[in-house]
Amino acid sequence: MTDRMSLTLAQADPEVAAAIDHETLRQHEGLEMIASENFVSEAVLEAAGSTFTNKYAEGYPGRRYYGGCEYADVVENLARDRAKQIFGAEHANVQPHSGSQANASAYAAIIKPGDTILGLDLAHGGHLTHGHKLSFSGKLYKTSFYHLRKDTETLDYDEMEAVALAEKPKMIIGGASAYPRLWDFERMRAIADKVGAYFVFDMAHIAGLVAGGVHPSPVPYTDITTTTTHKTLRGPRAGLILSKQSLAAAIDKSVFPGQQGGPLVHIVAAKAVAFGEALAPSFKDYAKQIVANAKALAEALQAAGYRLVSGGTDNHLVLVDVFQKGIFGSEAEEALGKAGITVNKNAIPWDTNPPLKPSGVRLGTPALTTRGMKEAEMKQVAAWIDRALVARGDDAALAKIRGEVAELAEKFPLYGWRRH
Ligand SMILES: Cc1ncc(COP(=O)(O)O)c(C=O)c1O
Repeated sequence: MTDRMSLTLAQADPEVAAAIDHETLRQHEGLEMIASENFVSEAVLEAAGSTFTNKYAEGYPGRRYYGGCEYADVVENLARDRAKQIFGAEHANVQPHSGSQANASAYAAIIKPGDTILGLDLAHGGHLTHGHKLSFSGKLYKTSFYHLRKDTETLDYDEMEAVALAEKPKMIIGGASAYPRLWDFERMRAIADKVGAYFVFDMAHIAGLVAGGVHPSPVPYTDITTTTTHKTLRGPRAGLILSKQSLAAAIDKSVFPGQQGGPLVHIVAAKAVAFGEALAPSFKDYAKQIVANAKALAEALQAAGYRLVSGGTDNHLVLVDVFQKGIFGSEAEEALGKAGITVNKNAIPWDTNPPLKPSGVRLGTPALTTRGMKEAEMKQVAAWIDRALVARGDDAALAKIRGEVAELAEKFPLYGWRRH
């Protein structure tokens, strides 16, 4: 080892070390309510920061293009087997670097450029990779979209069926980034069968709820199910593709060499650890508590006079129509940020305001639930949210809330509040 190779991070690069310290402290001191974020365990962090970061392992276990892959094979096989076990899937590909790459690979395995796809409109809670014109999905494929009903703000399956009959998509993609209700997989399968389309479901947001048995599983109904591994599933930042055995070879080829080169073996190892955690009985309690917390948060916000999109939640998130109180989502995000509560502005269905100044904010409970918070804390959080929104122009009032937030956060420590 050269001298530099044996230095600690703080010795070798104090600037990066300080930024990591500050980020850990930021995560510890605030309330993380971004619905797509979570806190991984120490064990997952350790695997993600392991020596596997040094390893090239193009190919798949037993069929690699590099030598020295015997331990890479061990972790990839563990990750694959555990993913299959959690979701009852016939095949798992654990190599996608992200949710977007999982989707790109899944689509490329079954359809061709120029084919038509049908997905949930981004403005109604869908994801960029489900056909938005700025994403690969909107550039490579012809797109069509389904929406939420105006009256109930829930999925309009009749419209989905009508669009499918008119547009004859080769693939229907389900899943969302901002939809607080359950999905009807059976109906979507029936619509896909009626028009001869593949049915792909992107369960990125709800994968942990599916794993924990508190949301029905799309896997029995789909041809392919994709997900990120870092949201409710509480693994490292990455993707996963599940499918029937009949599509296994096409998917594996589509991921590598189709979309990616070597897998991030350290992240595959971290996925194996996270999947092991999701198989433990305690994960069911975690998933149940995420939903109980979201319901408690929703009820407390409604009691304080806020309108929630679709009138509530069945999952881990609530979408609050703050514009109904005359506040833009962007203003709410900024005020809550100053109060130590991290959220994101979000369009609501049929929004009349522009994307950078939308009418809503999206709040999620997965990260706070990981810290051990329960319904009582959610009530307190809702009270702070209301106070912060009312006092949104008053920096002193927001700073006072931030102090109270930090006191609560201190009672639910994160990573032993590690400092270098
Ligand atoms: C439904 C859905 N699919 C895919 C993704 C993309 O994941 P990534 O950011 O890992 O590419 C997201 C991310 O927010 C998502 O919400």
